[in-house]
Amino acid sequence: MPNTPARDRDDLPALLGGSPIRPQGPPDWPGSDPAVTAAVQSALADGSWGKYHGPHTSKLTDVVAQTHGGCHVMLCSSGTVAMELALRGLRVGPGDEVILAAYDFRGNFQNVLTVGATPVLIDIHPTSGNLDPSHLAAAISKRTKAIIVSHLHGGVVSMPDVVRIARQQTPPIPVIEDAAQMPGATIAGKTAGTWGDVGILSFGGSKLLSAGRGGAVITSLADVAQRIKLYTQRGNDAYPLSELQAVALLPQCERLAEFNRRRAASANRLRELLANVSGLRPFENAVANSQPGYYKFGLQYDPVAFGGLSRDLFAEAMRADGIALDAGFRSLHLTHASSRFRPIGTLTHATDADARVLTLHHPILLEGPEALRQFVDAVERIRRNATILQSNRKSKI
Ligand SMILES: Cc1ncc(COP(=O)(O)O)c(C=O)c1O
Repeated sequence: MPNTPARDRDDLPALLGGSPIRPQGPPDWPGSDPAVTAAVQSALADGSWGKYHGPHTSKLTDVVAQTHGGCHVMLCSSGTVAMELALRGLRVGPGDEVILAAYDFRGNFQNVLTVGATPVLIDIHPTSGNLDPSHLAAAISKRTKAIIVSHLHGGVVSMPDVVRIARQQTPPIPVIEDAAQMPGATIAGKTAGTWGDVGILSFGGSKLLSAGRGGAVITSLADVAQRIKLYTQRGNDAYPLSELQAVALLPQCERLAEFNRRRAASANRLRELLANVSGLRPFENAVANSQPGYYKFGLQYDPVAFGGLSRDLFAEAMRADGIALDAGFRSLHLTHASSRFRPIGTLTHATDADARVLTLHHPILLEGPEALRQFVDAVERIRRNATILQSNRKSKI
């Protein structure tokens, strides 16, 4: 498609002075929610909000346990801390190695360093955008103490493959499954977070279940749960989730499955629409009997299809049009000193992801078909104006 400068003002992206396609901007998250308001008000009225311990954290622990196969649940202050606790619970420490994808949440890499171990980085799959289990064998050494697997941006990792490879080793290698981005998702018929020996969840401010901050560790292993309790209980809980956070989360847990279904239906519709849009390729899922969650809807961006417009300028233009589209994670091997990790192979796809991934924040997926149409309209309007967007940016430098 040619990138001819547009003459009609209505055909200009908002970044060039046109009217935003979504003048109202992205939907709020968390939005106003009568069920959360009522729950918090009742905790204010009965005084439970101000207690160290009370009914809400106990109930949340039970709810998370029930939805994750009756396992041990330790609520904590963030998903980032949950990962540190998972590593400590598995006794990962100095001299050990932990395998993870080179394209992953930065905190996971940092946590491996925090406990004194060395991250071993493997490549991602080119179409799923997530850890590729076929690289695990080459990464495993005598020092491997754990494998961290994150399900990112609506893509899922084949957990049956990961667990099979991990359990084939002598001794078996524990797997930590990071389900921070997809609570309630299903992977090969099981709930995300329950495939691993330890799973983690996040209740951070932008997440599908949100208390502003918060997280949880889930495990079926009593010794791991006990070690985490000993580490966190120091006369007081060192990494607590409060009663007030728990009371706000409980109504969200009740409708998580329904919201996940609605988000998945929108994600599928968006995939259909994007089949006719060049230069934006959604993360693909090849794991049978799976229903990913959509904290972010991940896309691979091809600048060639947009006349050379950079990924970051494209995302900026989409945001100006009222759509919450951002660059993905920085890849870990490109942002840390090489002395800090051991790379496996060339990490080509993770290098590519660093430059190409875009993520669409989830609230738009609850809005309905019109919002998805607006997404595509904004993309095409930016494409029509790619040349002028670039030259404007150059003249400002
Ligand atoms: C994959 C993944 N793991 C862990 C976390 C950490 O969660 P938190 O923000 O609660 O620390 C995040 C946060 O975005 C994440 O995306």
